Amino acid sequence: MLRQAIMKRGLATAAAPATHVPKMKTFKIYRWSPDTPEVKPKMQEFQVDLNDCGPMVLDALIKIKDEQDGSLTFRRSCREGICGSCAMNIGGTNTLACLCKIDKNESKTTKIYPLPHMHIVKDLVPDLTQFYQQYKSIQPYLQRKTFPKGKEIYQSVEDRKKLDGLYECILCACCSTSCPSYWWNAEEYLGPAVLMQAYRWMVDSRDESFGKRKEMLQNSMSVYRCHTILNCTRTCPKGLNPGKAIAEIKKALAVD
Ligand code: SF4
Ligand code: F3S
Ligand code: FES
Repeated sequence: MLRQAIMKRGLATAAAPATHVPKMKTFKIYRWSPDTPEVKPKMQEFQVDLNDCGPMVLDALIKIKDEQDGSLTFRRSCREGICGSCAMNIGGTNTLACLCKIDKNESKTTKIYPLPHMHIVKDLVPDLTQFYQQYKSIQPYLQRKTFPKGKEIYQSVEDRKKLDGLYECILCACCSTSCPSYWWNAEEYLGPAVLMQAYRWMVDSRDESFGKRKEMLQNSMSVYRCHTILNCTRTCPKGLNPGKAIAEIKKALAVD
């Protein structure tokens, strides 16, 4: 009896029709190649079957690259919001493609651009050279002159807590490239991502360069181009608040 039941179940499974109803979604993607600089940038349409694709925009991009156009270029690595490399503008918002769910509404086209107001290397890849130079300029590492002999430099639980909401930044540049002040003054204004990291080192109880760090920022451009527009905080895909960190820097700069 048992054998018969198992066989029947097996037959039922084998006989089941393969139901694959395609659910086609249109993606319009920014394309530009340095190999043909005379050709203007354009938006290219791709159709993806959402029933045969992972749930995130990065899944769709990988599928398009694998199956439709191997020349489509974008950065990605971790696929879990840790490396920051898949930052791009999706549906009008700077975000991480690997954390951004595909809008399942097939009647709506999803438009994908590179991070705004950046030089483009190719397609969805922005040139982040200046962004990293600015990061380097704030000296993002622990600085001390005194070392307790043979001891670790301890940090209290309270002091460690001051780094929460700051150390989690993955330097994806979504915030800086959403800031109008950064768009217009990127040469001199450090922008929200880099400023939040500057603040992260200013409040680290183990660091002894608070004064020097303040001095580096005490000019009309590095910090004060921030006009509290707060696009940065709204867009951060990690839920951080660079706008608040900048306000704290301004407070610290106001006190001598
Ligand atoms: Fe990205 Fe947020 Fe860090 Fe800005 S603060 S670089 S948006 S993780
Ligand atoms: Fe820009 Fe954020 Fe300041 S959007 S102006 S850095 S509060
Ligand atoms: Fe690493 Fe998206 S691939 S953050």
